Amino acid sequence: MQHSDPLHLTRTVLERVANTPDPRFRLLMTTLVTKLHEFIREVDLTPEEWMAAIEFLTATGQTCTDKRQEFILLSDTLGASMQVVMLAQARASASVPEGVAATPATEATVQGPYYWEGAPERELGSNIAEGVRGEPAYYHGRVTDTAGRPLAGVLLDIWSGDGEGVYDMQVAGQNEMLARARLRTDAQGRYAFWSIRPSYYPIPMDGPVGRMVQGFGQHPNRPGHIHFKVSAPGHVDITTHIFVANSPYIESDVVFGVRDSLIVEFQPHAPGRAPDGREMKAPFWTAEYDFRLAPARA
Ligand code: BEZ
Ligand code: FE
Repeated sequence: MQHSDPLHLTRTVLERVANTPDPRFRLLMTTLVTKLHEFIREVDLTPEEWMAAIEFLTATGQTCTDKRQEFILLSDTLGASMQVVMLAQARASASVPEGVAATPATEATVQGPYYWEGAPERELGSNIAEGVRGEPAYYHGRVTDTAGRPLAGVLLDIWSGDGEGVYDMQVAGQNEMLARARLRTDAQGRYAFWSIRPSYYPIPMDGPVGRMVQGFGQHPNRPGHIHFKVSAPGHVDITTHIFVANSPYIESDVVFGVRDSLIVEFQPHAPGRAPDGREMKAPFWTAEYDFRLAPARA
């Protein structure tokens, strides 16, 4: 028998989903159908609006290539990526045994679309941005566990745009990696390298997600930051950034990735001797940041 009650329709769909054998898939789909139907009723969605949404998602898929992931950009600009990152970090960490003084692990943030696997392995202290536009910056610090013990041999996989906010992957015909490297901490858990002080930059705005962001009346920018994946056996890997304090857009990152604990004051220096003994002919910056990794759940 047919009913004209929209709630009856929701119940009928949920009954069909209720037979899903996989319990997690059943939960995900039950909640999705419930919330989707609620949304449609709440905003009194018209057929034209629903078709516009379908066309938008179709265009989002059609914009994806092997170098561009418009769905991730959609997830990022709706804050969904950050929600998932925050939940995952909390879930993966084992609780610290009683009596052990612990500081929380470094906060994670979005990976973004410009990670490129297989960055060159470099020595500690190297310049990983040779020939890249931008003001030189010396990055250094330590990696410890959440109890403050130094972690040796931790892998840091690092990437950033140049000093004008452009990533190597965005430049047509640029097939070589720039401003990327993998380093390992020394026996005291220390790391150090030279790169550039990163600039703010806009996310790609020439696709459907750009049109959506523009529709919000929102700027498209991310504040200056450098990306890190920090990983060590027995610990929860972190994908995170260091953000440049006072960078434009630090209060309004288009992908909601900023955490106060990740903001670093870059110190300006006149030409002269750098902390690693290098003689710098040009002004340069230093940035110090310590990473903390939580023990992984067994
Ligand atoms: C990035 O930081 O590389 C990024 C993150 C999310 C969207 C676009 C870019
Ligand atoms: Fe970035």
